[in-house]
Amino acid sequence: MARRVAIGNNKGGAKKSTTAVRLAEALAKLGKTVGVAEMDPQGNASRRLGWKDSPDKLTTSEAIEANALGVASQVWQPIGWQTDYAHRIVVMPARYTLEDRALEAGQRGAYRRLAKALKGADDHLDYVLIDCQPSLGHLTQMALAAAHYAIGSTEPEYDSLEALVRFRDFVTASGEDLANPDLEFIGAVVSGHDQRTGGHVGQLANARTLFGDRIWGVVPRRSLIANADEYGKPLDEMADSAQIRAVFELLAKRFIKEVPPV
Ligand SMILES: Nc1ncnc2c1ncn2[C@@H]1O[C@H](COP(=O)(O)OP(=O)(O)OP(=O)(O)O)[C@@H](O)[C@H]1O
Ligand SMILES: [Mg+2]
Repeated sequence: MARRVAIGNNKGGAKKSTTAVRLAEALAKLGKTVGVAEMDPQGNASRRLGWKDSPDKLTTSEAIEANALGVASQVWQPIGWQTDYAHRIVVMPARYTLEDRALEAGQRGAYRRLAKALKGADDHLDYVLIDCQPSLGHLTQMALAAAHYAIGSTEPEYDSLEALVRFRDFVTASGEDLANPDLEFIGAVVSGHDQRTGGHVGQLANARTLFGDRIWGVVPRRSLIANADEYGKPLDEMADSAQIRAVFELLAKRFIKEVPPV
């Protein structure tokens, strides 16, 4: 079984999807096989991985709706990048129809349906990174019920950091309720850091005070990251990206150390 790691924060724009996509990219470059499971109806991670939507394609929504053991094996798809490591990444993509699954929250066992879909369907992968939406509602609870671990990403800003604390506390409090008592919050990434912004320097220090050694990395604010996301490209295809690729490589190495593949 892959090690499954949910990536969350209870605030929008906290760089969750960028962290999921670029961590997947860096892990793949280090030889790991990674599934990115999108649990956000916005579908940002799927698109940024170069996945192109069309009506015939299956998504997370159908996997959950099927309510059947291992059904996710039919939903993993290649990503759209052409780099030599792209074949080590697969995506379980999402589109806005995933919103419909949130409405099923009251159905018996609904919170276990992603776990059920993934059972036996990720044995061929080292990792599954689950990109969460900014809420703590049903879709995120399904992600947490399926995950071994949760990590967060945050901007170095007050509201983002506060929302990360909320996510961490929610994870810590919810394992038993989600029939996943071993679930643990184990790390966080501070992303979009700009040294010239006075508040960022102070909030990075705050993040270190709050999370200590659980801050696994600090990603600087760089337009090339936003541009790579915008155009759905791998960092390897972006000019002058060596420094940023090194930042994500370091993050991936820390990730592998904290979450060794089984
Ligand atoms: N280090 C960075 N420097 C500059 N821009 C960044 C960086 N990381 C991410 N971005 C950009 O910031 C924006 C928000 O990031 P992202 O969409 O990953 O956040 P999110 O937490 O997933 O948002 P949502 O809550 O909507 O899912 C995106 O346009 C992304 O490309
Ligand atoms: Mg996102």
